[in-house]
Amino acid sequence: MVDSKLVMGIDVGASGIKGGIVDVTTGEMLTERLKVETPQPATPKAMAAAFKELIDMHNWEDGLIGVGFPSVVMNGVAMTAANIDDAWIGKSIEEIFGNISGCPVITVNDADAAGLAEVKFGVGKGVKGSVIMITIGSGLGSGLFTDGKLVRNTEFGHFQLKGMLAEHYASDRTRREKDLSWNEWGERFNEYLIQLRRLFSPNLIILGGGSSKKFKKYSDQITVDTPIRIAEYLNKAGAIGAAIYAHEEYQGREEQVNGKLKVDNG
Ligand code: BGC
Repeated sequence: MVDSKLVMGIDVGASGIKGGIVDVTTGEMLTERLKVETPQPATPKAMAAAFKELIDMHNWEDGLIGVGFPSVVMNGVAMTAANIDDAWIGKSIEEIFGNISGCPVITVNDADAAGLAEVKFGVGKGVKGSVIMITIGSGLGSGLFTDGKLVRNTEFGHFQLKGMLAEHYASDRTRREKDLSWNEWGERFNEYLIQLRRLFSPNLIILGGGSSKKFKKYSDQITVDTPIRIAEYLNKAGAIGAAIYAHEEYQGREEQVNGKLKVDNG
């Protein structure tokens, strides 16, 4: 079952946990993308229960699950917690969600996942050089790709801009909380993109997350001298990319185990 081309992809966000069943060979989500609210506070225990609810809604029983998670993720462990409860720091996302679901779980940063979907099957496909995915939501998530290869766990929402974390200056949460007009927010976001360009000179910037759908409302403010594309998979990109990542990583782990067995057996 776990080596099937069908993988459950889940995008864990600060406000919602969303997912569906993905054909990883085409990047297509075969089911409706279903959503449960992210519990507040977003503690491991409360989120595990919400995660289980979503899995059950899809009748997903023993297959592989790929999870895009809003933190730095190393070896399946959450290393940071900017927009979720601090209790996650140091906890194994793969163990917590794996135990509650009874399925193998493989985790990756949420924006890395979204970028992966776009670079494999969407607007970033075939683009040479560096591509940066930026997801605009409660935070600013980032995914960096060089010639299609993911450089994991960049946190480009966390450099300093105007004396604060860039995501505190230009995220969608800030737009809502400060009641900024789209023009005002667009100017801030443009400053953010200019800084990204100064630091990394990307060949392409892809915008994803909820606010990417509203690009027309602030596109007049965007003057940065880098090609910009809107994510083709819009707000499904995170879940689709998480499934793709899990599939590749799972195969890699299996090969490692098999390789090791061969060596052990002489
Ligand atoms: C987190 C990132 C995450 C982004 C989008 C940021 O606050 O630090 O890891 O990718 O939010 O969810």
